Amino acid sequence: MSAKATLTYAGKTHELPVIIGSEDEHAIDIMKLRAGSGLITYDDGFGNTGSCAGGITYIDGENGILRYRGYPIEQLAEHSDFVEAAYLLIFGELPTQTEYQEFDDLLTDHMFIHESMRSQFESFPDDAPPMAILSAMINAAGCFEPALRAVEEKRFKESAARLISKTRTIAAASYRISQGLPMNYPRFDLPYTANFLHMMFGMPNKDWTPDPDLVRAIDQILLLHADHEQNCSTSTVRMVGSGMANLYASCAAGVCALWGPLHGGANVAVIDMLTRIHESGESLDSFIAKVKDKSSGIRLMGFGHRVYKNFDPRAKIIKASCDRVLDKLGIQDPLLELAKKLEDVALHDEYFIERKLYPNCDFYSGIIMRAANIPLNMFTVLFAIGRMPGWIANWHEVRNNPNGRIYRPRQVYTGPTERPYVPIEKRG
Ligand code: ACO
Repeated sequence: MSAKATLTYAGKTHELPVIIGSEDEHAIDIMKLRAGSGLITYDDGFGNTGSCAGGITYIDGENGILRYRGYPIEQLAEHSDFVEAAYLLIFGELPTQTEYQEFDDLLTDHMFIHESMRSQFESFPDDAPPMAILSAMINAAGCFEPALRAVEEKRFKESAARLISKTRTIAAASYRISQGLPMNYPRFDLPYTANFLHMMFGMPNKDWTPDPDLVRAIDQILLLHADHEQNCSTSTVRMVGSGMANLYASCAAGVCALWGPLHGGANVAVIDMLTRIHESGESLDSFIAKVKDKSSGIRLMGFGHRVYKNFDPRAKIIKASCDRVLDKLGIQDPLLELAKKLEDVALHDEYFIERKLYPNCDFYSGIIMRAANIPLNMFTVLFAIGRMPGWIANWHEVRNNPNGRIYRPRQVYTGPTERPYVPIEKRG
């Protein structure tokens, strides 16, 4: 017998189906509620709304669990790499050796961007934010591939590989242009993440070999950011895709949604915050007091999460990686010490305990990126490179939902009721 919930309102009882997810998550299906009752539901900010049924990533926020297609994030972080995780997220299964090689070859085949895009890069001002360049140039890259704008199913694998590969090239180019440096072509002999670092930091006619542990740490950051269920940017990609917008346009919208400091931009905000505390010499107690004072408008950046109410498993992995890499490279970053102290103070403070606020994935990731000499304004760009497979997988899921409709939430209107138009000369 299928589960039902009943809702009683204004003397009438409405029976609503309950759908049960594969991890025994129960959700009241209100899709037909309005037709039977005239009622809509209200959930400002979607805090308790399942906007879709999705089979890509599972999060249990109470227990700090994150799985891609069923595989625990801890196991993927230890044994897998970004390219394999991207394949898993997009196509649903871990690749065989042959499938991995084919996908990796596709990434290599499509790593170049059209030469005429160079002039577009050069038309941005030097101080243009790389996130703006990234979203604009992902859309521009779509224009150079008119056959792909519609993205036919039979070419989906190639389209996904093109976008993942070109995003990395565009990201590195946006940095080079901002520095007045020549853009580096990608290399055929380098794997995905090392190739990105080569395009960022390599110099013509000069050997450039990054530390393998640093490359691994950056690759792991990309993997850990590769998908995260219905967050702000992924929901945006699904929303845009549901209107039948193409893959490039939908993912460019995802980049814009990721930019803000409450979402992907938090990795920049964390380093800004730590730098300010470090340079001013402010005591942690004084800073935490400001955070707790709502009128200050200051938040402890890199702390808190809509879903995780215990710990963010990604943060644990990144913190351990941060210690390992800085130790290996012999780097003593005062911001790492400060971050650890700040975490300790917050985790013992009633304000954070009561509200179940823990470090999220952005609290330590920036310190690894600093160790790799990645400039602050590129941090969120790295997040976007990492999140691209998740956006693509979600776009594909929306487009392949046989019952799919355009995403179109309702609202509870609280504006003025009807009033007559007043000619301009009579206003005032
Ligand atoms: N510092 C101080 N107080 C906080 C913080 C924080 N970082 N996060 C939440 N709170 C407080 C809120 O003020 C609120 O307090 P109240 O109950 O007294 O009103 C309570 O905790 C609940 O917070 P909400 O804002 O309702 O939580 P929400 O789920 O809407 O927001 C968010 C989640 C945006 C991540 C929030 O915790 C935050 O702003 N964190 C800092 C920014 C950040 O690190 N973002 C990255 C998130 S991970 C990602 O997107 C990759």
